[in-house]
Amino acid sequence: MQKEELILILDFCGQYNQLIARRVRECNVYCEIVRHDISAEEIKSRGAKGVIFTGGPASVYGDNAPKCDPEIFNLGIPVLGICYGMQLMTHTLGGKVERADKREYGEIEVNFSKSVLFDGFTDKNVCLMSHTDYVETLPQGFEKIADTASCPYAAIENKERRFYGIQFHAEVNNTVNGTKIIDNFVKKICGCSGSWEMSSFVKETVKALKEKIGDGKALCALSGGVDSSVAAALLNAAIGENLTCIFVDHGLMRKNEGDEVEEVFGKRFKSKFIRVNAEERFLSRLAGVEDPETKRKIIGEEFINVFEEEAKKIGKVDFLVQGTIYPDVVESGKGIGASIKSHHNVGGLPDHVDFKEIVEPLRDLFKDEVRKVGRELGIPDYLVDRPPFPGPGLAIRVIGDITKEKLDILREADYIFREELERDGINKISNQYFAALTNVKSVGVMGDYRTYDYMIALRAVTTMDFMTATFTRIPYETLERVSSRIVNEVKNVNRVVYDITGKPPATIEYE
Ligand code: XMP
Repeated sequence: MQKEELILILDFCGQYNQLIARRVRECNVYCEIVRHDISAEEIKSRGAKGVIFTGGPASVYGDNAPKCDPEIFNLGIPVLGICYGMQLMTHTLGGKVERADKREYGEIEVNFSKSVLFDGFTDKNVCLMSHTDYVETLPQGFEKIADTASCPYAAIENKERRFYGIQFHAEVNNTVNGTKIIDNFVKKICGCSGSWEMSSFVKETVKALKEKIGDGKALCALSGGVDSSVAAALLNAAIGENLTCIFVDHGLMRKNEGDEVEEVFGKRFKSKFIRVNAEERFLSRLAGVEDPETKRKIIGEEFINVFEEEAKKIGKVDFLVQGTIYPDVVESGKGIGASIKSHHNVGGLPDHVDFKEIVEPLRDLFKDEVRKVGRELGIPDYLVDRPPFPGPGLAIRVIGDITKEKLDILREADYIFREELERDGINKISNQYFAALTNVKSVGVMGDYRTYDYMIALRAVTTMDFMTATFTRIPYETLERVSSRIVNEVKNVNRVVYDITGKPPATIEYE
């Protein structure tokens, strides 16, 4: 990392902390989230150009309220306190924080005064407020630079010492111009040039991985999905042939997908690549199984079995590579979804593989950042831009029991659907789109003949977080073309329907 461009974000356990990091990086400035009790000395030795205190649930007067090293304020570098961070700064520097009777929450109109923090704005701006405590008396040397109808100090500054506080959350989308406020802080106040790019992240991560792994050996379960592919590509760049990627081809991939993965990782990369063709094994264990959870369980187990068998052939490895990204960390922390479906990520942790440590090089990145890293590393767009694909693959898109014949029908229909959506640019407004093979056969007519064939369901959803979703508004013309191509080009299909259910009550996948 370019040290002169480093911003440190002190973590006071706010729910939007990762978003702050994301916004700073969007300003092309490198940042890291660090513990709130990091010493001033360490901040100095790391050459940070500024620090940001995040929000957090505590009150500065609480018994266990997280504090910062007060010496930070003597380092001569700018500080931006957000919400709790602003209150902590006020409290530490001799101002007064009070508890309001009522929480101020929501998108609230804030009146801005002139300040470099708000350069380029008008004097009114809608911001997301979420606080109960508020700053009542300013510390010496501070001035008000914003207020709301009920909050006397919505933003404050000590221009001379370059200390800034905002009571609202500039990092969330609901705050209009939020990123610009952060941009003003990191560039105009901290003096960062904004020259950091994903290429720097790649360079630094590869360097750090090299140092960490040295001559050790690493193993990666490659699923062909974006995350494990990009994690593998980073390790490939760092340690080359000391990385072995095992790609368990369970025969439940989409059309051409297995070959595409092999083409990239087997041919273009230095690391070792093992493709295990385990289709028969999976299909024979799945034969006749109709229950969705049983299917998922079998696939999860069989995946681990195959992976372990292959890993054992390699012998002892030092590191196991995981493509965990930040939303996974948040999601597993909250345990969301666990009670609805037993989500399985190919690449889940096997019990019997002997390794020393897990490496998760993408742990702090959001999906779009992961895609950028992938592009930097030369992974082709068709892999990097893929919509999410579940670990159990097409098995949970064939409703009921699975056969090779059904999978082949689905692969063809799904391919046509995706091709047509991409052709019409619908992939820009839909976050996940696929076909499913329903367990329904119905009567149709082809030429002069009666048919009795499968019904394909098309599903396309628009969503921010995959926790809730609405169906994507696909134009009728596109749907018509898809339907006509599928019934004409895919044998054993005579009916196509479009699923217009939201999540909830439906889930995105069918099983
Ligand atoms: P649902 O069906 O729960 O899906 O609404 C939400 C998102 O999760 C994906 N999904 C999975 N991903 N392993 C995965 O890696 C799984 O077992 C799994 N099940 C669902 C789904 O594709 C959607 O993006």
